Amino acid sequence: MAVLSIPKLGIRAENELEIKRRLSEAGIEYERWDLSRVPADATADQVLAAYAPEIEAMKQRGGYTTADVVDITPETPNLEPMLARFDKEHTHAEDEVRFILAGRGIFFLHIADEVLSVEVHPGDMLRVPRGTTHWFTLCSDRRIRAIRWFQNTSGWTPEYTGSGVDQQHQPLCFGPAYLGARVETKIHV
Ligand SMILES: [Fe+2]
Repeated sequence: MAVLSIPKLGIRAENELEIKRRLSEAGIEYERWDLSRVPADATADQVLAAYAPEIEAMKQRGGYTTADVVDITPETPNLEPMLARFDKEHTHAEDEVRFILAGRGIFFLHIADEVLSVEVHPGDMLRVPRGTTHWFTLCSDRRIRAIRWFQNTSGWTPEYTGSGVDQQHQPLCFGPAYLGARVETKIHV
């Protein structure tokens, strides 16, 4: 289950209906999909075959022409430069559509004058319309596996806003799957 945070309003939501409602108000589609269709070690082709009905339905919904499986681990070559392309505020001419199969990451959505962060987890489907100002990064465990849909891969080039808003938000992951070390500060009085 995703974790939605709207720091400006002091909101943090881990409830599916609330996340869905708040994202829908911001023009973002969020759904929970069944994860039991394939085992964790399924190949990309097995994933695409198992989710073929959903992939086709999504293509119809958004006019997408292709879908693939992206698989990122800490061992992925050139991982940090790749992540650096997307962790700065940008828009692009394609919708950003992801169904998370494994791992997690954070989408930051800058809509009107609010920044919403959505930490996505396995089973989460997020559809961010083209032109939405956003950025994305992985959690510290640097792992994500997702189905992606594309209208036209040439639309995938990020157009950076250069606003610097991304610098004001720490990419901290809070969800229940958190595996890294937490730092706690105790003040003794
Ligand atoms: Fe993007």
